[in-house]
Amino acid sequence: MSEKPQAFINPASGSIRLTGDVDLVDAEGKVIESIDAPKFCGCGLSKGKPFCDGSHKEYVKLFAEQLRNARELVKPCMSFSPMPKRAHAIRENELQYRLAAGETVVGVKVGGALDSPNSAEPTSVMIFGYLTDAMQLTDSIKTANYIYPRAEAEVAFKISKEISTEIHPSEVLDYVSHVATGIEIFDYRYGQAQIYANDAVADNAGAAAFVHSHWVPAHEENLENLTAQVFANDIEVETAPLTAIRGNPWLAIVLLSKVLVENDVKLPAGSIVFSGSATKGVHLAAGNNYAVDIKGLGRVELKAI
Ligand code: FES
Repeated sequence: MSEKPQAFINPASGSIRLTGDVDLVDAEGKVIESIDAPKFCGCGLSKGKPFCDGSHKEYVKLFAEQLRNARELVKPCMSFSPMPKRAHAIRENELQYRLAAGETVVGVKVGGALDSPNSAEPTSVMIFGYLTDAMQLTDSIKTANYIYPRAEAEVAFKISKEISTEIHPSEVLDYVSHVATGIEIFDYRYGQAQIYANDAVADNAGAAAFVHSHWVPAHEENLENLTAQVFANDIEVETAPLTAIRGNPWLAIVLLSKVLVENDVKLPAGSIVFSGSATKGVHLAAGNNYAVDIKGLGRVELKAI
């Protein structure tokens, strides 16, 4: 073992353990106390700060509850930037809450977020969020049930074969039977704040609601050269080619398969996948009518009430 003091930051709990006999000193360097292998709190929950008292075990439960209550009270909450393992645990906690309430998982949404506020050059990382039957809309959305709902123009895929391994681009059509025009409503419970990957994962990638047009059979060519348009009260407010979705919307399935494998999640046949957005999100305001049109694929409309 190294003779130099070492610090171990536990990636699961956030606690910070130093090695050896450590002197705690005051501002003048006077020794207050010597402690062997002290463990400090890095999660912020300890009642005996600066030391870890084990309260980090409550972190996932408390964080998940806070996010859930933010939804129910329609109030943004603060982000604590959880570490990756905890972010995943918080997303799973929220999913279990939904399943216990009788909801069923019907698919996933693909999303992106910046990796870390601490990176010198932040890069976008791919994440996913669960879609449940309760999130599926028909023709309207009650905006008061959301915090800051935004609509994105996306491709919806119907999965025909379980995704349990990484998919090669040449295999995508073996996994997709149908495609449709989709509106994904994302609604981060942090409000409008910049979202980083761990916060986004903890909040289920902002997945809040979705609606799609009639399914059409999937052919490789039927996403090429198409353009998505978003309308508010029949006025075009956003437009973008579908190539804005990762250069090619089919690649969303390829990249998603990698993320699912990394997270040990299998996506059964029959699931819906929302591709990630072609356009910027359009804020939904009650009283307006919205539509997404992808000519050659379909049109879907939504009334905000
Ligand atoms: S890290 Fe253990 S209580 Fe905070």
